[in-house]
Amino acid sequence: MELRLENLTKIFTNKTGTDTTAVDDLSITIDSGTLVGLLGPSGCGKSTTLFMIAGLLKPTRGKIFFGEDDVTKLAPEKRGIGLVFQNYALYPHMTVYKNIMFPLENMDVPRDEAIQRVKEMADLVGIGTMLDRKPAQLSGGQQQRVAIARALVKKPRVLLLDEPLSNLDARLRLQMREEIKRIQRETGITTVFVTHDQEEAMSISDKMVVLNFGVEQQYSAPQEMYNTPANLFVAKFLGNPPINSFEADVKDGAVIFNDQKFMQFKEVKDGSYIIGIRPEHFRVAEKDSKDKIKVDIKEIFHVGRDTMIHFELNGQNIRALVDSDSVGDNDKSVELTCKRKRLYVFDKDTGKVINHG
Ligand SMILES: Nc1ncnc2c1ncn2[C@@H]1O[C@H](COP(=O)(O)OP(=O)(O)O)[C@@H](O)[C@H]1O
Ligand SMILES: [Mg+2]
Repeated sequence: MELRLENLTKIFTNKTGTDTTAVDDLSITIDSGTLVGLLGPSGCGKSTTLFMIAGLLKPTRGKIFFGEDDVTKLAPEKRGIGLVFQNYALYPHMTVYKNIMFPLENMDVPRDEAIQRVKEMADLVGIGTMLDRKPAQLSGGQQQRVAIARALVKKPRVLLLDEPLSNLDARLRLQMREEIKRIQRETGITTVFVTHDQEEAMSISDKMVVLNFGVEQQYSAPQEMYNTPANLFVAKFLGNPPINSFEADVKDGAVIFNDQKFMQFKEVKDGSYIIGIRPEHFRVAEKDSKDKIKVDIKEIFHVGRDTMIHFELNGQNIRALVDSDSVGDNDKSVELTCKRKRLYVFDKDTGKVINHG
């Protein structure tokens, strides 16, 4: 089922009459059968967006379509959604079996079919042998599996997950992330996955939407977004270690690093900009390379396969992650380069990237 948001907007007005625009004119189409990650810092409007899709919050403006169905005014229970939250919200006094069965109790599903579906869902999420247990007898990850089975048992048109892994410890989070991806693939259900964790979103999503203050920053496949960020916010939000960003002048198309000219960007006018280069996009330059800058090494760390070099560009501390055999422990300076398309020039005022299109 394709999911389409059109100019979706939510404005909260508090008691003193001040408005918060939690979601600001969001228009995206989520292809049928895909998993879209809704990503951004705390308070950027992720849950508000999800709750509007679920029907738990009424949009101030805009529309929501499930396929050709305009569901904007439809009650939550009529939309055909499955919801999973951070706190699993299972019924503690009911067994796993009853918890999963619960949503079917008030539906016209024949008894035999209902039992069959509960078993199928329990197997799908990997808790088929725990149907007689109570939630307290399960680990956090297992409880979240029950919550997912319960959300899926009604065969919803859309699955909505709000930070479903945030309560789990780091290892379980990694494992459940892969599980959710597998379950989503096997069921082919259109899914919106909310998270503030960029790595989680990148690893699980077919496409991601990044929000900031309720405004869509970019909507694309994770790797594409990582490599061609639309603006400085997205560039900084994705990646660990984070992108290097620092001020630099551009003169006659060349970026000025420590008074040296670097590369040529004919499309960029003379002026002052924010430059972004990810640590791993630096390389130690070949001897005959034209585009390179010489920098003084401040510190050097070996991190397994790679070596992290610290140095300064235009007075800022910069990090480069390079092949460990390309620098020696006693090197005082190094010549670095990067691919042209991996150097981003951002407008200082708007943050928009201006050398990629
Ligand atoms: N019921 C509400 N009343 C007033 N403001 C709200 C309400 N719910 C959320 N907000 C505000 O809307 C913005 C977005 O919140 P939310 O969607 O919960 O963010 P996220 O899920 O990305 O952390 C925040 O500024 C938050 O304080
Ligand atoms: Mg939230």
